Amino acid sequence: MLLGVNIDHVATVRNARGGVEPQPIEAGKICEKCQVRSITTHLREDRRHIKDEDVEKISKLNTFLNLEMAVTDEMQKIALRIKPHSVCLVPEKRQEVTTEGGLDVAGQLEKITKFVKPLVDAGIEVSLFIDPTEEQVKASSKTGAQFIELHTGSYSNAYGTENEETEFQKLKSAAKLGQELGLTVNAGHGLDYKNVKRMHEIDGLYELNIGHSIISKAIFTGLEQAINEMKELIK
Ligand code: PXP
Repeated sequence: MLLGVNIDHVATVRNARGGVEPQPIEAGKICEKCQVRSITTHLREDRRHIKDEDVEKISKLNTFLNLEMAVTDEMQKIALRIKPHSVCLVPEKRQEVTTEGGLDVAGQLEKITKFVKPLVDAGIEVSLFIDPTEEQVKASSKTGAQFIELHTGSYSNAYGTENEETEFQKLKSAAKLGQELGLTVNAGHGLDYKNVKRMHEIDGLYELNIGHSIISKAIFTGLEQAINEMKELIK
């Protein structure tokens, strides 16, 4: 499995003081040094953490940029201009603290299919961040997107409780179905240095996108060590 590192929290800390430090691009350079597969930034509609200029700068690194974004015309224009290696389409609600649920692909199949096409035509890999259900995986396979990212939030929350196995099996079945339908399957959200280990039990997972736990550890160990420890766990 490969690692994608989400560095949004670096921008959150910077914005807390309204100044210029710490710079997400500096985190990006460390990700590059650690040879992660991709650097993820979520450019939210309200720009609460990552800003447009951060995305511009990070897009110039040699490491793949994975741009997380909502299904809006504004974001589509930005993606088509910057041409990140990949985009991950997520639902976005103003009041949420972080991305809460998966994208309802089944409920808006036509809209998402139309949205995906120009991105794929521009050579951008498109991933859909979805809950691990049969309905969402099947719908995703009809959109033209090449990837899905399974939302691991419910599994992560259930980790160590009686619901862990149920949530884990949902991920396992969804990953299998996605692969059978020709999709490359990623996963992420809420993964940490403990619960990530079970991702090895899911055959063929391609990339894990992890942010919060890595940046949290990095406060104490430094980002390079935090990334390398995670790489070791998932390789
Ligand atoms: N994948 C997606 C689509 C996300 O929205 C997020 C959170 O921004 C992550 C992965 C990373 O989640 P976490 O910060 O909990 O590791």
